[in-house]
Amino acid sequence: MEGPDGSGKTTQIEMLKTYLESKGYDIVITREPGGTVISEAIRAIILNKEYQEMSHMTELLLYASARAQLVNQVIKPALAEGKAVICDRFVESSAVYQGIGRGLGVSTVYEVNNYALGDVKPKLTIFMDLDADEGIRRKENQTELDRMEMEDLSFHKRVVEGYRQLAQLYPDRIFPVDATLPIEKIHSIIVEEVEKRFFS
Ligand code: TYD
Repeated sequence: MEGPDGSGKTTQIEMLKTYLESKGYDIVITREPGGTVISEAIRAIILNKEYQEMSHMTELLLYASARAQLVNQVIKPALAEGKAVICDRFVESSAVYQGIGRGLGVSTVYEVNNYALGDVKPKLTIFMDLDADEGIRRKENQTELDRMEMEDLSFHKRVVEGYRQLAQLYPDRIFPVDATLPIEKIHSIIVEEVEKRFFS
């Protein structure tokens, strides 16, 4: 599940989990960066707003390191046990935040992340499509902003445009959903797509 900050990913993940459980699946949910003790420690470094001097390449490699640990410690074992895994952010976050937002280039991001992912590839990426200013507005009540959230509106606009470009480039694996729709409507659109891809 991908999308800008404030796009409602977490709510939709919980609803999708309930739906997939009703179909008999064991579900594992992960969030990035994080999801293992080591990945959470890396997350604390990445998002620490004291570290304003962090280079873009360091940031990319730290996200990839956190992901490598998550893939090996959590995702691979879960898949091997026949479970379904829903990730709150995955490699496409790096593609847009580091590749496009930071300007490192999408191909560099995929190259680095190939080491982190190995043969683990998402079967479907759902992109919660929301304008950057609306995402920021939804987070307005949050008092403490992390290092990424402190970036200016133009950065967050590049991120959203990046997601939209990737969704256009790779319609087979990235499915965009209008995140301004009512929560139940978004859920039913997602379920319809999941049914189409996995159960028909
Ligand atoms: P988080 O608080 O988990 O954000 P959200 O609740 O919106 O998912 O913080 C993760 C932040 O890290 C978020 O701003 C997006 C950013 N990020 C990247 O820049 N690259 C990445 O590869 C990942 C996974 C996240």
